[in-house]
Amino acid sequence: MKIFLDTANLESIRKYNDMGLLDGITTNPSLMSKEGGNPKDAMKEITKIIQGDVSLEVVSTKYAGMMEEGTRLREYGDNVVVKVPMTPDGLKACKSLSSEGIPVNVTLIFSPNQALLAAKSGAKYVSPFIGRLDDIGHDGIHLIKEIKEIFSNYNFTTEILVASVRHPMHVVDAAKIGADVVTLPPAVLDKMLQHPLTKIGLDNFLADWEKLKAGNPNIKI
Ligand code: G3P
Repeated sequence: MKIFLDTANLESIRKYNDMGLLDGITTNPSLMSKEGGNPKDAMKEITKIIQGDVSLEVVSTKYAGMMEEGTRLREYGDNVVVKVPMTPDGLKACKSLSSEGIPVNVTLIFSPNQALLAAKSGAKYVSPFIGRLDDIGHDGIHLIKEIKEIFSNYNFTTEILVASVRHPMHVVDAAKIGADVVTLPPAVLDKMLQHPLTKIGLDNFLADWEKLKAGNPNIKI
């Protein structure tokens, strides 16, 4: 399963990229707004740091505007994936951009039928938002199971990019289903790295090493 980071924060992107964990990045207007500054600078920098796919989102709601913005966004790098909303205009732009060889991520997917239609339009990725479904009492992970089954039935090559991930168990569940990608807020990725027994174990190893050193002050690894 590929791991993308769901952020426009350069420090987080560099941190996890240096650990070799990132296959790509997803951004959206809310994440850009959270960082402030000029989003163009952030987009340019992110596409330079990351080799893999970087989703940059259009803000036009009409087909013509989406096409213009999509074409401009691609100037930031060959690794740019144009993110469009799951609307009739978004699907039309998805079809046109995909036909031109520009990869598209269709976002704001909340039902299996929306995912099916986005795949039919030629999307490289569909982004189902599982946390927002959980928030309103639905089952986000169940949506991933349904999309996976549908895409497998028809051998769609569109990848399931699990978004709106809120906690590490979402990641385990998505991986068990065989989702292609999860996009993670930095806080979720950080929690995945940690386990209390790892910390306790390391503290014990280091304490025991200090004991050994007490009897052999010049000892080194
Ligand atoms: O890519 C954006 C998506 O992951 C939204 O997450 O937490 O705002 O529902 P959230």
